[in-house]
Amino acid sequence: MTQLSINVNKFALLRNSRGTDYPNLIEICKKCILYGANGITVHPRPDERHTKFADLKDIKNLLLDNNSKIEFNIEGYPSEFFIKKVLEVLPNQVTLVPDPPEAITSSFGWDCKKNKVFLEEVVKEFQKNNIRVSIFVSPSINTLENLEIIKPNRVELYTFDYAHNYKSKKHESIKPYKEVINYIKKNFPIIDFNAGHDLNLENLDFFLKEITSIKEVSIGHAIVIDSINFGLENTIQKYLKIIKDVNR
Ligand code: PXP
Repeated sequence: MTQLSINVNKFALLRNSRGTDYPNLIEICKKCILYGANGITVHPRPDERHTKFADLKDIKNLLLDNNSKIEFNIEGYPSEFFIKKVLEVLPNQVTLVPDPPEAITSSFGWDCKKNKVFLEEVVKEFQKNNIRVSIFVSPSINTLENLEIIKPNRVELYTFDYAHNYKSKKHESIKPYKEVINYIKKNFPIIDFNAGHDLNLENLDFFLKEITSIKEVSIGHAIVIDSINFGLENTIQKYLKIIKDVNR
């Protein structure tokens, strides 16, 4: 069954906007877990406007208290500093994203041709430390050269294009994702799939029905917005229901 990892970055952004500890990020994570999240995702950026690097240990400790049943996924650009901080907390998964420091959000996947050597080394470093490595990829086979050398455990499909074309042409916009899935399944059958970005209550169901092999979706922005309408508990339950119904 697809796992729901909640990206708590936007809660951290709210906290940071007042320079206080309100809302407390650990309390938010506890609630996400209580209401059924399978994982917690964070994306600490160099300017720390969302999750801060100092949050990582607190979240890891919380998850250890939960007997490590809840997965910890840290996303980000693998700078030396990022790598050091991730290795200090040893999450279950690291998702490597090629976003420049000033990025508002992740907006493209890796070019595996250009970044072959870099990614190969970074992936190895994390895997040596028993951290599962996922790399963020665009729905374009052209960007996926060298996967056999880079050897990630998973790829995370960047779902922006799908999500933003969902209303007008969902059948067409899902096609490139299917092509990528088929290509990877055929050529690198040991690589699993995650997905994320702009997934929401409206577009998640179709995506998961069309692409049945998604191990994990990480969702942040929409969950915060849905919580305004439905409350956090109901919101998480709605996402979990979509996932459960698809997997039935
Ligand atoms: N995956 C990656 C790599 C991201 O950078 C983000 C946003 O931080 C997400 C998934 C989640 O996207 P959203 O907040 O739109 O659900």
